[in-house]
Amino acid sequence: MSDHRTLSNGSRWLAGLGLFIVIFMSVSIAFYAIAFQARLVGDPSFHLRFDASPLFPSLHVIGGAVVLMLGGLQFWGALRRNYTKVHRWMGRIYLSFVLIGGIGGLVLAPQSNGGVVAHFGFGMLAVLWMFSGWQAYRSIRQGDVEAHRGWMLRNFAMTFGAVMLRIYLGLFAAAGVEFAEAYQTVAWIAWVPNLILVEWYLVLMSQGKSRGRKPQNA
Ligand code: HEM
Repeated sequence: MSDHRTLSNGSRWLAGLGLFIVIFMSVSIAFYAIAFQARLVGDPSFHLRFDASPLFPSLHVIGGAVVLMLGGLQFWGALRRNYTKVHRWMGRIYLSFVLIGGIGGLVLAPQSNGGVVAHFGFGMLAVLWMFSGWQAYRSIRQGDVEAHRGWMLRNFAMTFGAVMLRIYLGLFAAAGVEFAEAYQTVAWIAWVPNLILVEWYLVLMSQGKSRGRKPQNA
């Protein structure tokens, strides 16, 4: 994710490994979403509720699967540098499906498990997800690569919430926490810490850059 020219060999290797793990986890959950949509996996109570009015749940789950398939790959520097056209097309597809999945998520939020706390958690996530996607698109159309990178990192941090949500739900279930209680917590902790980490990373990067920059009048 960082500019590869500013990293030592060790850090570059670690960043590559981190990205590989993120892509692997994202793609795995994308396959879960496809299997969910095909009714091969998933809680029967979800299927029952979603089947009663399948349009928005389907848009949401299919949109989510596509973005998780593509999102991590967009941060792979070699692909971005050597196949810019592919990066652009994947980006357009990614952002279109953020919109589709986000609209679906926004419609599902007020009907979700976990009560009003979860409704707000998912609702806010859906709004910020689409907003950050729009900002990422706008900034690259204006040629501002730095801002585009920041907005895409924020956006993918929220996309990755779909992975963290399932990890946390598993941990809560293992700890014996009741499902409804776990759900209202994961509706927030699946994405807020991811966003904080990304903001922290972006601040560190900008501090590193301004430290490396020579004073103009020196
Ligand atoms: C980042 C923004 C997202 C928001 C706001 C969001 C919101 C929601 C909501 C409100 C529900 C319904 C929960 C319920 O009825 O109790 C749901 C379910 C679901 N979402 Fe998302 N979601 C997001 C991202 C994703 C992504 C990226 C995927 C891709 C895997 C995904 C896949 C699913 C699936 C498969 C379900 C069905 C329930 C399950 O098996 O967990 N979502 N989502």
